[in-house]
Amino acid sequence: MTFPPRVFSGIKPSGDLHLGNYLGAIRRFVPLQKTHHCIYCVVDMHAITVWQEPEDLRRATYEVAAAYIAAGIDTKNHIIFNQSQVLQHAELAWIFNCVARMGWMNRMTQFKDKAGKNSENVSLGLFAYPSLMAADILLYKATHVPVGEDQKQHLELTRDIAQKFNNDYGKRIKDLHLDAGYFPLTEPMIAGAATRVRSLRDGTRKMSKSDAASDMETIYLLDDADAIANKIKRAKTDPEPLPEDVKDLENRPEADNLISIYAALADKTKQEVIAEFGGKGFGVFKPALAELSVSVLSPIATEMRRLVGDKGELDRILRDGADRARAIAETNMREIREIVGYVR
Ligand code: TRP
Repeated sequence: MTFPPRVFSGIKPSGDLHLGNYLGAIRRFVPLQKTHHCIYCVVDMHAITVWQEPEDLRRATYEVAAAYIAAGIDTKNHIIFNQSQVLQHAELAWIFNCVARMGWMNRMTQFKDKAGKNSENVSLGLFAYPSLMAADILLYKATHVPVGEDQKQHLELTRDIAQKFNNDYGKRIKDLHLDAGYFPLTEPMIAGAATRVRSLRDGTRKMSKSDAASDMETIYLLDDADAIANKIKRAKTDPEPLPEDVKDLENRPEADNLISIYAALADKTKQEVIAEFGGKGFGVFKPALAELSVSVLSPIATEMRRLVGDKGELDRILRDGADRARAIAETNMREIREIVGYVR
């Protein structure tokens, strides 16, 4: 069985969107529209696996939707929607909770990292999170999922769930004259190192919204031009000029991070950036990076602010996206209910 190429990915509406979300996810989603049918979800059901103030959840949901649109997702030919509007996600997640094994779930490193020493007091939802993620993807029989390195294990679990479902229900699937490999074995599209954005104050740590020691280490998508320029100007560096060879960035995490950000924003390789700035000091490089960042991010921020200011338009787009997503989801769910043996 070959599946028509379909991309699915999701971003959690928790906290403020930052440059890491943009370069690691949203910006990569845009060109895939040329080659695949794409479904980009605002995964609000994933967000509430840890406590979200209801008003913050709503604001963040609109913000992610606005970012998708402002970055160039075509909401007519592709789909953006928020997960909770398509109930089939929860329905399939339950079935997958009954397919996935405790042993598999216990091996999820992201859960272990997030739960830490607090594992008795985190939500059951946080533990089941990867099973809901598998449901997101397989509900649409998505063939390709662009994600960061940190989601690789969840994609492997998604394949394991698909395979076990296909096997466990193999006879039934055959009896119903459905294709033997009912669910596809989804391919991850893992982002390269260039899109792994690090903190501006510590090049060894991820740029993040939650554990930012100070606002100076994170460029937010809604930052204005002055804030962006100021954060880049004050970004941590080392005293050496930029190297002439990418290999020499190895033990210079802050320099590597700034070069990577420049490369990602300019759609260039790190080597190409080095060819331009090698041998020059940060006094030359930082203003160029600031200018490039502002030129790429400012129009996005402007459009995001316009969209967030018009909830009516965003509501319409999300509702229309959800309607189209639901149509696909329901077609598949009808078969899945039949496969499982539910009486309807
Ligand atoms: N778990 C993903 C993250 O934290 C978000 C996500 C939820 C997702 N469902 C998905 C990503 C389905 C890709 C496909 O980044």
